[in-house]
Amino acid sequence: MNRQQYYSDLFRQLSVPSEEPLRQQYFIDKLRIFMFGLPPKYTIPVDSEELASAKPLVRRTACVSTFGCQMNARDSEKLSGILQEIGYEIIEDEKADFVLYNTCTVRENANMRVYGRLGVLNGYKKKNDQMLIALCGCMMQETQVVEKLKKSYRFVDLIFGTHNLYKFAELLSDRIDSGEMVIDIWKDTTQIVEDLPVDRKYPFKSGVNIMFGCNNFCSYCIVPYVRGRERSRRPMDIIREIENLVADGVVEVMLLGQNVNSYGKNLEEPMTFAQLLQEIEKIEGLERIRFMTSHPKDLSDELIEVMANSKKICRHMHLPLQSGSSRILKLMNRRYDQERYLSLVEKLRKAIPDIAITTDIIVGFPGETEEDFEQTMEVVRKARYDSAFTFIYSKRSGTPAAAMENQVPEEVTKARFDRLLALVQEISREQTARFTGQTVPVLVEDVNDHDASLMTGRMDTNLLVHFPGDASMIGKIVNVRLDECKGFYFLGTQV
Ligand code: 5AD
Ligand code: SF4
Repeated sequence: MNRQQYYSDLFRQLSVPSEEPLRQQYFIDKLRIFMFGLPPKYTIPVDSEELASAKPLVRRTACVSTFGCQMNARDSEKLSGILQEIGYEIIEDEKADFVLYNTCTVRENANMRVYGRLGVLNGYKKKNDQMLIALCGCMMQETQVVEKLKKSYRFVDLIFGTHNLYKFAELLSDRIDSGEMVIDIWKDTTQIVEDLPVDRKYPFKSGVNIMFGCNNFCSYCIVPYVRGRERSRRPMDIIREIENLVADGVVEVMLLGQNVNSYGKNLEEPMTFAQLLQEIEKIEGLERIRFMTSHPKDLSDELIEVMANSKKICRHMHLPLQSGSSRILKLMNRRYDQERYLSLVEKLRKAIPDIAITTDIIVGFPGETEEDFEQTMEVVRKARYDSAFTFIYSKRSGTPAAAMENQVPEEVTKARFDRLLALVQEISREQTARFTGQTVPVLVEDVNDHDASLMTGRMDTNLLVHFPGDASMIGKIVNVRLDECKGFYFLGTQV
């Protein structure tokens, strides 16, 4: 009897566990054995040498493409981790046997890109009858999107949402068993499933979810509808994950949440974000801590103090402004005004010298007048952002702003957007230049894209620095003198 037969027979005697993550481990093993002829990893004891040296009987490739934010990027690492455990070889090319799009729906143009690229995938699928196409992420949480896919995109094999991502292995198994399109979308969840496999993009840095969902309901934003209510992970689960990451070579973590400043409010034993940071700071071997995103309404003095006293928290605060007009901020339901925002910026700059402050700004929110827009320009001049993401307001159906009157004409928005971008870039250049001549620690991330004799690293302020070096430096923190400011990055020398 061959090994696959042997494991298949044993596996057939098992029943499907109802608890997580055991249930998903069962489905991972099922696909390992029946699809790839690999020994099971979780359900049946296998000699560790056999497990380590086992090769799949068939080669099948998978590609995970990510749209949108860091949260999605982290989810993709989990999805890719599951595919890898099942036995797929992960590649970058979408001409793969399995293609998964992890979608974003924050702005309408992200949706249009997905539909466009699906057409291309259908072409690939016609040439490869093995190919499976799957869609997940925020866009799938919108009913009209799934309706459209069901009607006009029948070649899609599997559709799931943001709340049941952890069930990926089970859903894939359902698709293979049934041979039909599988759709599973949940409206919300309170569940957080820990301990699923992850395939990290970088060996030396990693995102870490500390919370999911959002409770803020900013009036333009679709996120609370597609990511559900705010849920914080337990501190012990977060700490354990980071300790394991550090043991595996990670030196920098990015704590992820829609609104990290409200971390811990719904825990059995409530804890503030600042307290969580202090616990994470104690982890030996961890060198840098970043986080994203902060909501100005919940940014506490306690957090500023913890940042100021920390040796590991990076001198960088991403603090979305959205609009500089107090009137528009009110319509946006942001729950702070211009004055409060600017006083936060001042406090941050005073407590943490050389801190980099970055932001998100929306232009053309319904009812935005020239005067409102000038207020935004005024805040940009005063706050002096190190960099800013600027967005044209995108109407998202189902949000309160979509129903507001006075939607701003496209030409007006576009002209304002260009003015804002020019100002943001001018200030960003000046802000970047203030570091010229300093010697700073830099985490070396990669060989430079354009010149292989240069390495690319990141300052704690998130600025990029290119300097002569070699690939052996990747993942290390080295001191680099910032010789020449090139606008949005530096050329430097290791010292
Ligand atoms: N239109 C334009 N930009 C938006 N954002 C969120 N919703 C919209 C929208 N409807 C921007 C906000 C947020 C960032 C992630 O995306 O600036 O901070
Ligand atoms: Fe959207 Fe506001 Fe929540 Fe950010 S804080 S995800 S902008 S609702």
